[in-house]
Amino acid sequence: MSEKIKVLLSEEEVDARIKQIAAQISRDYAGREIHLICVLKGGVFFTCELAKRITVPVSLDFMSVSSYGDDTKSSGVVKIVKDLDQPLIGKDVLIVEDIIDSGRTLSYLIEILKGRNPNSIRLCTLLDKPERRVKDVKVDYCCFNIPDEFVVGYGLDYAQKYRNLPFIGVVELENQD
Ligand code: PRP
Ligand code: MN
Ligand code: MG
Repeated sequence: MSEKIKVLLSEEEVDARIKQIAAQISRDYAGREIHLICVLKGGVFFTCELAKRITVPVSLDFMSVSSYGDDTKSSGVVKIVKDLDQPLIGKDVLIVEDIIDSGRTLSYLIEILKGRNPNSIRLCTLLDKPERRVKDVKVDYCCFNIPDEFVVGYGLDYAQKYRNLPFIGVVELENQD
């Protein structure tokens, strides 16, 4: 088997939409500072592109989480692999993700981060697959709703590959003759 990548959202479409969302965020947070939290690894490319286009002051921190496995997945528990460096108290936090799928990762993360007493906490995602949702998550900013297909690029991986593609693609498995 080999993989072929079909373009779902071109580099131009993605860039244009990130510009729009960044402008909306900059308006919504006018007069305030935003503390961006990038969820590693998938969120890293989107975080950079978004942050460059936000016009209010921005600070950045990074967090890495992973699911424990099937047992704990159903309870929505995720393990913090790398925690934030800075406290959140009094900050206007904006979590940046590449994709919301079942919602397990983010519903858990938001609960943890709320406990650290930020002034506010919102979620911004590049992609959303609403039909896959198991846990309710309030998405404040979403660039694209997409159908339930296996997507890669712009931070999203297939077995750790393809994160660096500058567009969103769908993986198509094909048999080699
Ligand atoms: C993916 C994606 C989100 C999460 C979404 O991360 O980047 O963080 O899964 O899935 P959920 O809504 O069902 O929880 P992954 O665990 O693959 O790690 P990665 O970002 O390092 O690729
Ligand atoms: Mn991720
Ligand atoms: Mg992944």
